[in-house]
Amino acid sequence: MTQSIKRIAINTGGGDAPGLNAVIRATVLAALNHGWECFGIYDSYSGLLEPERYPDGGLMPLTREAVRGITHVGGTILGTTNRGNPLKYPTLGADGQLYEADRSDEVIAAFKQHRLDALIAIGGDGSLAIAHALDQKGLRVIGVPKTIDNDLDQTVITFGFDTAVSFATECLDRLHSTAEAHDRVMVVEVMGRYAGWIALNTGVSGTADAILIPEIPYDITIVANKVIERVKRGRDFSIIVVAEGARPQDGAHSVLEKQVGRAERLGGIGEKVTAELHEVTGKETRTVVLGHLLRGGTPTTFDRLIALRFGAAAVRALAQGELGKMVALDPPTVRYVPLAQATSRMKSVPLDCDTILTARELGITFGD
Ligand code: F6P
Repeated sequence: MTQSIKRIAINTGGGDAPGLNAVIRATVLAALNHGWECFGIYDSYSGLLEPERYPDGGLMPLTREAVRGITHVGGTILGTTNRGNPLKYPTLGADGQLYEADRSDEVIAAFKQHRLDALIAIGGDGSLAIAHALDQKGLRVIGVPKTIDNDLDQTVITFGFDTAVSFATECLDRLHSTAEAHDRVMVVEVMGRYAGWIALNTGVSGTADAILIPEIPYDITIVANKVIERVKRGRDFSIIVVAEGARPQDGAHSVLEKQVGRAERLGGIGEKVTAELHEVTGKETRTVVLGHLLRGGTPTTFDRLIALRFGAAAVRALAQGELGKMVALDPPTVRYVPLAQATSRMKSVPLDCDTILTARELGITFGD
């Protein structure tokens, strides 16, 4: 099996996360040790499906020089997109409307045409599900889990998460002083999709007064009571961390936009909570949406190391014939999990996890 691998492709899919370039570098350097040639597919699968839009016919030659000095650099040198699912590729119909078309067979054909023997797909749940579908069609695939949201089951953690939480916590530290100076309530909305990991870890580390997460639907009066109770204790300001996927007990999560060929965009819950808290407490209240700032910048040491370990492990898995698997962190080691299992369910925050218990013991409310 392994003798037949000569050329491999690497791609990055979905939203970017700090550490992607470190994975690319580790993958390439480890692959070169096997004598494999490496190519990066531009923008997830778009380089293969729309080669005319890209340099080098859609495939970036990944030589030792091409990956030099990128370990600490945010973003991805290959580009990425969350609109490039080849199973639901946004395609213009004769009527001028956008439709979702299954173009996965064209991806398989392009691999043959370019004599690419395997794919290392770096991505979140959506990208790993695509990788699984391509594996089912006979492509040799290894998945590398990526997301700042940390919502992938089967891996203890994903790279990007630590960077996002570290930055968000620093923001909370900064907001404390201005909130206190103005006697204000600051509502800080963070990313995380349908999981509350970023909000929870940031809120506890940054000593928030309330943390609202998708896993625990909130009652705004309970949050408002927390703010009022603090005022009575002479604490005239409060910090509320809200996950973008948080929802009230009697409502749904806030959606900004739905579009063909992509997941719904969440957002707006911060403003909603701000307006309601102002109305109930009468206090001056402001919203800060950290949004894409959480995805930018240099990966922390922790994320770099996981990313490098994942990249090297992906090549090890391929060399050992562990096909159709995702590399997963299982301290102190990495293991390989079948892609089907890796993508079967989302990792939510367990309601009885010790970080939730800790938060409650510190007096932080979840609005429940
Ligand atoms: O999954 C990563 C993530 O950053 C989510 O936290 C967020 O909901 C989403 O991507 C935003 O994606 P976009 O790049 O489309 O704004």
